[in-house]
Amino acid sequence: MPTRTTAPLPTRVIPPHHYSDPAIFEQEKARIFRRSWMFVGFADDLGGNNDFITAEIAGTSVLVQNFDGQLRAFHNVCTHRGSLIHLKPCGNGKPVCPYHGWVFNRDGVPVGIPGNREFFGFDDEARRRLALPRFEVATRGRFVFVRLEPGGPGLDEQLGAYGALLDHLSALFVEKIDENRLPWAANWKTGVESVLEVYHVDATHPETFKQFTKKVWNCAYEKEHSRGTTHLSDGSVKWWDGVVARLGLPRSELYRNYDHFFIFPNLAIGLTHGGLMSVQTYDPLDAERCSLHFRLFLGATSKPQTRGGPVRRAVEDNLRGFNARVLDEDRIVSEAAHHGMKQMRQPAVPGWCEERIHAFHDAYLTRMGE
Ligand code: FES
Ligand SMILES: [Fe+2]
Repeated sequence: MPTRTTAPLPTRVIPPHHYSDPAIFEQEKARIFRRSWMFVGFADDLGGNNDFITAEIAGTSVLVQNFDGQLRAFHNVCTHRGSLIHLKPCGNGKPVCPYHGWVFNRDGVPVGIPGNREFFGFDDEARRRLALPRFEVATRGRFVFVRLEPGGPGLDEQLGAYGALLDHLSALFVEKIDENRLPWAANWKTGVESVLEVYHVDATHPETFKQFTKKVWNCAYEKEHSRGTTHLSDGSVKWWDGVVARLGLPRSELYRNYDHFFIFPNLAIGLTHGGLMSVQTYDPLDAERCSLHFRLFLGATSKPQTRGGPVRRAVEDNLRGFNARVLDEDRIVSEAAHHGMKQMRQPAVPGWCEERIHAFHDAYLTRMGE
Protein backbone atom coordinates (compact mmCIF):
# COMPACT_ATOMS: atom_id res chain seq x y z
CA MET A 1 0.00 0.00 0.00
CA PRO A 2 1.59 3.33 -0.94
CA THR A 3 2.19 5.71 1.92
CA ARG A 4 2.59 9.45 1.77
CA THR A 5 3.04 10.21 5.41
CA THR A 6 5.41 13.11 4.80
CA ALA A 7 2.82 15.24 2.99
CA PRO A 8 0.45 17.28 5.15
CA LEU A 9 -3.12 16.05 5.22
CA PRO A 10 -5.58 18.22 3.31
CA THR A 11 -7.49 20.76 5.32
CA ARG A 12 -10.45 21.07 2.94
CA VAL A 13 -12.71 18.62 4.72
CA ILE A 14 -16.52 18.67 4.90
CA PRO A 15 -17.55 20.07 8.31
CA PRO A 16 -19.41 17.64 10.60
CA HIS A 17 -22.72 19.52 10.59
CA HIS A 18 -23.00 19.05 6.81
CA TYR A 19 -23.89 15.42 7.55
CA SER A 20 -27.11 16.14 9.45
CA ASP A 21 -28.19 19.79 9.13
CA PRO A 22 -31.53 20.13 7.26
CA ALA A 23 -30.55 23.64 6.07
CA ILE A 24 -27.39 22.21 4.47
CA PHE A 25 -29.50 19.51 2.80
CA GLU A 26 -31.66 22.24 1.26
CA GLN A 27 -28.51 23.89 -0.11
CA GLU A 28 -27.31 20.55 -1.48
CA LYS A 29 -30.60 20.15 -3.33
CA ALA A 30 -30.21 23.55 -4.97
CA ARG A 31 -26.48 23.48 -5.65
CA ILE A 32 -25.80 19.81 -6.33
CA PHE A 33 -28.84 17.61 -6.96
CA ARG A 34 -30.91 20.00 -9.07
CA ARG A 35 -27.91 21.06 -11.18
CA SER A 36 -26.29 17.68 -11.86
CA TRP A 37 -27.15 15.01 -14.35
CA MET A 38 -28.50 12.36 -12.00
CA PHE A 39 -28.50 8.66 -12.89
CA VAL A 40 -32.12 7.44 -12.70
CA GLY A 41 -32.11 3.97 -14.27
CA PHE A 42 -31.41 1.86 -17.33
CA ALA A 43 -32.76 2.19 -20.86
CA ASP A 44 -33.52 -1.57 -20.58
CA ASP A 45 -36.78 -0.59 -18.84
CA LEU A 46 -37.70 2.06 -21.44
CA GLY A 47 -37.51 0.12 -24.71
CA GLY A 48 -41.19 0.09 -25.70
CA ASN A 49 -43.81 2.77 -26.27
CA ASN A 50 -45.26 3.92 -22.92
CA ASP A 51 -42.58 2.13 -20.90
CA PHE A 52 -41.69 4.25 -17.89
CA ILE A 53 -39.37 4.41 -14.90
CA THR A 54 -39.65 6.60 -11.81
CA ALA A 55 -36.96 7.96 -9.51
CA GLU A 56 -36.69 10.33 -6.59
CA ILE A 57 -33.96 12.95 -6.94
CA ALA A 58 -33.41 14.47 -3.49
CA GLY A 59 -37.11 14.95 -2.80
CA THR A 60 -38.31 15.45 -6.38
CA SER A 61 -40.23 12.55 -7.88
CA VAL A 62 -39.47 12.12 -11.56
CA LEU A 63 -40.93 9.96 -14.31
CA VAL A 64 -39.11 9.09 -17.52
CA GLN A 65 -41.33 7.75 -20.26
CA ASN A 66 -40.97 6.44 -23.79
CA PHE A 67 -43.40 8.37 -26.04
CA ASP A 68 -43.28 6.72 -29.47
CA GLY A 69 -39.55 6.12 -29.17
CA GLN A 70 -38.63 9.44 -27.57
CA LEU A 71 -37.66 9.65 -23.91
CA ARG A 72 -39.14 12.53 -21.96
CA ALA A 73 -38.89 13.32 -18.25
CA PHE A 74 -41.55 15.05 -16.15
CA HIS A 75 -42.32 15.84 -12.55
CA ASN A 76 -44.19 12.73 -11.39
CA VAL A 77 -46.71 14.80 -9.42
CA CYS A 78 -50.27 15.38 -10.63
CA THR A 79 -51.21 19.04 -11.03
CA HIS A 80 -54.77 18.34 -9.84
CA ARG A 81 -54.22 17.55 -6.16
CA GLY A 82 -50.67 16.36 -5.95
CA SER A 83 -50.83 12.59 -6.14
CA LEU A 84 -47.84 10.76 -7.60
CA ILE A 85 -48.76 9.69 -11.13
CA HIS A 86 -46.72 6.53 -11.71
CA LEU A 87 -46.43 4.62 -8.44
CA LYS A 88 -44.18 1.78 -9.54
CA PRO A 89 -40.39 1.94 -10.11
CA CYS A 90 -40.99 0.84 -13.72
CA GLY A 91 -43.82 -0.40 -15.91
CA ASN A 92 -45.85 0.29 -19.02
CA GLY A 93 -48.79 2.66 -19.35
CA LYS A 94 -49.67 6.23 -20.19
CA PRO A 95 -49.23 8.84 -17.47
CA VAL A 96 -52.64 8.52 -15.82
CA CYS A 97 -53.07 9.75 -12.26
CA PRO A 98 -54.44 6.93 -10.10
CA TYR A 99 -56.42 9.29 -7.83
CA HIS A 100 -59.05 10.91 -10.09
CA GLY A 101 -57.88 9.69 -13.46
CA TRP A 102 -56.34 12.74 -15.13
CA VAL A 103 -54.49 11.68 -18.28
CA PHE A 104 -51.31 13.51 -19.36
CA ASN A 105 -49.93 13.60 -22.91
CA ARG A 106 -46.36 13.67 -24.27
CA ASP A 107 -46.11 17.38 -23.47
CA GLY A 108 -47.23 16.76 -19.90
CA VAL A 109 -50.57 18.49 -20.57
CA PRO A 110 -53.66 17.00 -18.87
CA VAL A 111 -55.66 16.11 -21.96
CA GLY A 112 -58.08 13.81 -20.16
CA ILE A 113 -59.90 15.36 -17.19
CA PRO A 114 -62.95 13.37 -16.10
CA GLY A 115 -65.98 15.69 -15.94
CA ASN A 116 -63.96 18.69 -17.13
CA ARG A 117 -66.97 20.57 -18.52
CA GLU A 118 -69.14 20.27 -15.36
CA PHE A 119 -66.46 20.51 -12.67
CA PHE A 120 -63.59 22.65 -14.02
CA GLY A 121 -64.37 24.22 -17.39
CA PHE A 122 -60.70 24.24 -18.43
CA ASP A 123 -60.03 25.35 -22.02
CA ASP A 124 -56.85 24.41 -23.88
CA GLU A 125 -54.94 27.34 -22.47
CA ALA A 126 -55.93 26.47 -18.89
CA ARG A 127 -54.89 22.86 -19.46
CA ARG A 128 -51.51 23.95 -20.78
CA ARG A 129 -50.97 25.98 -17.63
CA LEU A 130 -51.48 22.72 -15.70
CA ALA A 131 -48.81 20.85 -17.65
CA LEU A 132 -46.30 18.80 -15.67
CA PRO A 133 -42.92 20.51 -15.37
CA ARG A 134 -40.56 18.89 -17.85
CA PHE A 135 -36.94 17.99 -17.16
CA GLU A 136 -33.93 17.32 -19.36
CA VAL A 137 -33.16 13.66 -20.01
CA ALA A 138 -30.04 12.20 -21.65
CA THR A 139 -28.53 8.75 -22.02
CA ARG A 140 -25.04 7.41 -22.25
CA GLY A 141 -25.06 3.77 -23.32
CA ARG A 142 -27.93 2.23 -21.34
CA PHE A 143 -27.49 4.66 -18.44
CA VAL A 144 -30.31 7.22 -18.24
CA PHE A 145 -29.78 10.59 -16.56
CA VAL A 146 -32.13 13.45 -15.68
CA ARG A 147 -31.30 17.04 -14.76
CA LEU A 148 -33.92 19.03 -12.88
CA GLU A 149 -32.59 22.50 -13.56
CA PRO A 150 -31.89 23.35 -17.20
CA GLY A 151 -28.61 24.87 -18.32
CA GLY A 152 -25.02 24.06 -17.49
CA PRO A 153 -22.80 21.42 -19.05
CA GLY A 154 -24.27 18.60 -21.10
CA LEU A 155 -24.17 15.01 -19.85
CA ASP A 156 -21.10 14.11 -21.94
CA GLU A 157 -19.24 17.07 -20.54
CA GLN A 158 -20.21 16.20 -16.97
CA LEU A 159 -19.02 12.60 -17.46
CA GLY A 160 -15.77 13.42 -19.26
CA ALA A 161 -13.81 10.25 -20.02
CA TYR A 162 -16.30 8.25 -17.95
CA GLY A 163 -18.79 8.60 -20.82
CA ALA A 164 -16.76 6.01 -22.75
CA LEU A 165 -16.71 3.86 -19.61
CA LEU A 166 -20.52 3.84 -19.51
CA ASP A 167 -20.61 2.89 -23.23
CA HIS A 168 -18.25 0.01 -22.53
CA LEU A 169 -20.20 -1.24 -19.51
CA SER A 170 -23.52 -0.87 -21.33
CA ALA A 171 -22.38 -3.12 -24.15
CA LEU A 172 -21.09 -5.79 -21.78
CA PHE A 173 -23.25 -6.11 -18.65
CA VAL A 174 -26.72 -6.90 -19.90
CA GLU A 175 -28.10 -9.55 -17.53
CA LYS A 176 -29.42 -8.19 -14.25
CA ILE A 177 -29.25 -10.78 -11.46
CA ASP A 178 -30.26 -8.66 -8.48
CA GLU A 179 -31.71 -5.28 -7.52
CA ASN A 180 -32.89 -3.78 -4.25
CA ARG A 181 -33.35 -0.54 -2.33
CA LEU A 182 -32.08 -0.58 1.23
CA PRO A 183 -32.87 2.12 3.80
CA TRP A 184 -29.79 3.44 5.61
CA ALA A 185 -30.01 5.67 8.69
CA ALA A 186 -27.12 7.75 7.39
CA ASN A 187 -26.53 10.91 5.39
CA TRP A 188 -26.01 10.19 1.67
CA LYS A 189 -22.39 11.44 1.85
CA THR A 190 -21.61 8.95 4.60
CA GLY A 191 -22.87 6.22 2.28
CA VAL A 192 -20.76 7.50 -0.61
CA GLU A 193 -17.66 7.73 1.56
CA SER A 194 -18.01 4.08 2.60
CA VAL A 195 -17.18 3.03 -0.96
CA LEU A 196 -14.39 5.51 -1.67
CA GLU A 197 -11.61 3.80 0.28
CA VAL A 198 -10.34 0.33 1.13
CA TYR A 199 -8.78 1.43 4.43
CA HIS A 200 -11.92 0.16 6.21
CA VAL A 201 -11.79 -3.30 4.65
CA ASP A 202 -9.73 -5.09 7.33
CA ALA A 203 -11.86 -3.85 10.23
CA THR A 204 -15.28 -3.77 8.56
CA HIS A 205 -15.13 -6.74 6.18
CA PRO A 206 -12.70 -9.28 7.75
CA GLU A 207 -14.62 -12.33 6.51
CA THR A 208 -15.86 -10.99 3.18
CA PHE A 209 -14.17 -8.29 1.11
CA LYS A 210 -10.80 -8.73 2.86
CA GLN A 211 -10.67 -12.34 1.70
CA PHE A 212 -10.86 -11.52 -1.96
CA THR A 213 -8.57 -8.53 -2.35
CA LYS A 214 -4.87 -7.78 -1.88
CA LYS A 215 -3.53 -4.75 -0.09
CA VAL A 216 -2.57 -3.05 -3.34
CA TRP A 217 -4.55 -0.15 -4.66
CA ASN A 218 -4.25 2.92 -6.79
CA CYS A 219 -6.48 5.84 -7.67
CA ALA A 220 -7.14 8.05 -10.66
CA TYR A 221 -9.27 11.14 -11.13
CA GLU A 222 -11.48 12.55 -13.84
CA LYS A 223 -13.25 15.89 -13.29
CA GLU A 224 -15.34 15.45 -10.11
CA HIS A 225 -15.19 11.66 -10.41
CA SER A 226 -12.65 9.05 -9.34
CA ARG A 227 -11.48 5.49 -9.79
CA GLY A 228 -9.92 3.10 -7.33
CA THR A 229 -8.35 -0.20 -8.33
CA THR A 230 -7.65 -3.01 -5.88
CA HIS A 231 -5.97 -6.24 -6.86
CA LEU A 232 -7.90 -9.46 -6.35
CA SER A 233 -6.49 -12.26 -4.22
CA ASP A 234 -5.09 -15.30 -6.05
CA GLY A 235 -7.95 -17.45 -4.74
CA SER A 236 -10.50 -15.00 -6.05
CA VAL A 237 -8.90 -14.82 -9.50
CA LYS A 238 -8.94 -18.62 -9.65
CA TRP A 239 -12.61 -18.76 -8.66
CA TRP A 240 -13.56 -16.21 -11.29
CA ASP A 241 -11.52 -17.90 -14.02
CA GLY A 242 -13.36 -21.15 -13.30
CA VAL A 243 -16.80 -19.54 -13.19
CA VAL A 244 -16.27 -17.54 -16.37
CA ALA A 245 -15.13 -20.61 -18.32
CA ARG A 246 -17.85 -22.88 -16.97
CA LEU A 247 -20.72 -20.44 -17.53
CA GLY A 248 -19.45 -18.82 -20.73
CA LEU A 249 -19.48 -15.35 -19.20
CA PRO A 250 -17.81 -12.49 -21.06
CA ARG A 251 -15.38 -10.23 -19.28
CA SER A 252 -14.16 -6.73 -19.80
CA GLU A 253 -10.90 -6.51 -21.72
CA LEU A 254 -10.08 -3.27 -19.93
CA TYR A 255 -10.72 -4.05 -16.27
CA ARG A 256 -9.58 -7.23 -14.56
CA ASN A 257 -9.13 -6.27 -10.92
CA TYR A 258 -11.63 -4.85 -8.48
CA ASP A 259 -12.20 -1.60 -10.35
CA HIS A 260 -14.39 0.93 -8.64
CA PHE A 261 -15.69 4.10 -10.25
CA PHE A 262 -17.44 6.99 -8.55
CA ILE A 263 -19.44 9.47 -10.60
CA PHE A 264 -20.27 12.60 -8.64
CA PRO A 265 -22.47 13.10 -6.73
CA ASN A 266 -23.78 9.63 -5.79
CA LEU A 267 -23.25 6.92 -8.41
CA ALA A 268 -20.80 4.09 -7.68
CA ILE A 269 -19.93 1.30 -10.09
CA GLY A 270 -17.82 -1.70 -9.04
CA LEU A 271 -16.40 -4.27 -11.45
CA THR A 272 -15.11 -7.58 -10.15
CA HIS A 273 -12.58 -9.28 -12.43
CA GLY A 274 -14.31 -7.57 -15.33
CA GLY A 275 -17.12 -10.13 -15.03
CA LEU A 276 -19.57 -8.66 -12.52
CA MET A 277 -20.90 -5.10 -12.40
CA SER A 278 -22.47 -3.59 -9.32
CA VAL A 279 -24.23 -0.24 -9.76
CA GLN A 280 -25.14 1.69 -6.62
CA THR A 281 -26.68 5.04 -5.88
CA TYR A 282 -26.92 6.61 -2.44
CA ASP A 283 -30.20 8.47 -2.87
CA PRO A 284 -30.82 11.11 -0.21
CA LEU A 285 -34.18 10.90 1.56
CA ASP A 286 -33.49 13.73 4.00
CA ALA A 287 -30.48 15.08 5.89
CA GLU A 288 -30.17 11.93 7.97
CA ARG A 289 -31.36 9.08 5.77
CA CYS A 290 -30.55 7.68 2.40
CA SER A 291 -31.66 4.77 0.27
CA LEU A 292 -29.00 2.52 -1.19
CA HIS A 293 -30.26 1.36 -4.56
CA PHE A 294 -28.09 -1.43 -5.97
CA ARG A 295 -28.15 -3.59 -9.07
CA LEU A 296 -25.90 -6.51 -10.04
CA PHE A 297 -25.23 -7.45 -13.67
CA LEU A 298 -23.41 -10.20 -15.52
CA GLY A 299 -22.54 -10.29 -19.20
CA ALA A 300 -24.54 -12.28 -21.74
CA THR A 301 -23.48 -15.91 -21.55
CA SER A 302 -22.14 -17.71 -24.61
CA LYS A 303 -23.55 -20.91 -23.09
CA PRO A 304 -27.27 -20.16 -22.76
CA GLN A 305 -27.92 -23.76 -21.77
CA THR A 306 -26.26 -22.97 -18.40
CA ARG A 307 -28.95 -20.38 -17.58
CA GLY A 308 -31.17 -21.70 -14.81
CA GLY A 309 -28.84 -24.69 -14.36
CA PRO A 310 -27.42 -25.67 -10.95
CA VAL A 311 -23.95 -24.14 -11.45
CA ARG A 312 -25.30 -20.82 -12.70
CA ARG A 313 -27.84 -20.75 -9.86
CA ALA A 314 -25.15 -21.49 -7.27
CA VAL A 315 -22.88 -18.77 -8.68
CA GLU A 316 -25.68 -16.19 -8.75
CA ASP A 317 -26.67 -17.09 -5.18
CA ASN A 318 -23.06 -16.76 -4.13
CA LEU A 319 -22.69 -13.31 -5.76
CA ARG A 320 -26.01 -12.05 -4.39
CA GLY A 321 -25.26 -13.35 -0.90
CA PHE A 322 -21.74 -11.90 -0.86
CA ASN A 323 -23.00 -8.51 -2.04
CA ALA A 324 -25.76 -8.47 0.59
CA ARG A 325 -23.28 -9.32 3.36
CA VAL A 326 -20.79 -6.66 2.34
CA LEU A 327 -23.49 -4.00 2.03
CA ASP A 328 -24.87 -4.85 5.44
CA GLU A 329 -21.40 -4.58 6.96
CA ASP A 330 -21.07 -1.17 5.29
CA ARG A 331 -24.51 -0.12 6.53
CA ILE A 332 -23.62 -0.90 10.15
CA VAL A 333 -20.45 1.20 10.15
CA SER A 334 -22.03 3.98 8.06
CA GLU A 335 -24.96 4.29 10.47
CA ALA A 336 -22.49 4.31 13.39
CA ALA A 337 -20.43 7.00 11.65
CA HIS A 338 -23.53 9.04 10.90
CA HIS A 339 -24.68 8.94 14.50
CA GLY A 340 -21.23 9.79 15.86
CA MET A 341 -20.56 12.54 13.31
CA LYS A 342 -23.40 14.57 14.87
CA GLN A 343 -21.36 14.69 18.08
CA MET A 344 -18.01 15.60 16.48
CA ARG A 345 -16.63 19.03 17.29
CA GLN A 346 -13.77 18.96 14.78
CA PRO A 347 -13.73 17.73 11.16
CA ALA A 348 -12.81 14.17 10.23
CA VAL A 349 -9.17 13.38 9.34
CA PRO A 350 -9.15 11.21 6.20
CA GLY A 351 -5.60 9.93 5.67
CA TRP A 352 -3.70 9.53 2.41
CA CYS A 353 -5.06 6.01 2.17
CA GLU A 354 -8.47 7.73 1.79
CA GLU A 355 -7.45 10.08 -1.00
CA ARG A 356 -10.63 9.59 -3.03
CA ILE A 357 -12.53 11.01 -0.07
CA HIS A 358 -10.36 14.13 -0.32
CA ALA A 359 -11.35 14.48 -3.97
CA PHE A 360 -15.02 13.97 -3.09
CA HIS A 361 -14.86 16.62 -0.35
CA ASP A 362 -13.12 19.00 -2.71
CA ALA A 363 -15.75 18.59 -5.44
CA TYR A 364 -18.57 18.84 -2.89
CA LEU A 365 -17.26 21.98 -1.19
CA THR A 366 -16.62 23.64 -4.56
CA ARG A 367 -20.21 22.91 -5.62
CA MET A 368 -21.48 24.22 -2.29
CA GLY A 369 -19.56 27.44 -2.91
CA GLU A 370 -17.19 26.97 0.04
S1 FES B 1 -54.70 14.10 -7.81
FE1 FES B 1 -54.34 13.42 -9.81
S2 FES B 1 -56.24 13.29 -10.72
FE2 FES B 1 -56.63 14.09 -8.76
FE1 LIG C 1 -17.17 -1.50 2.56
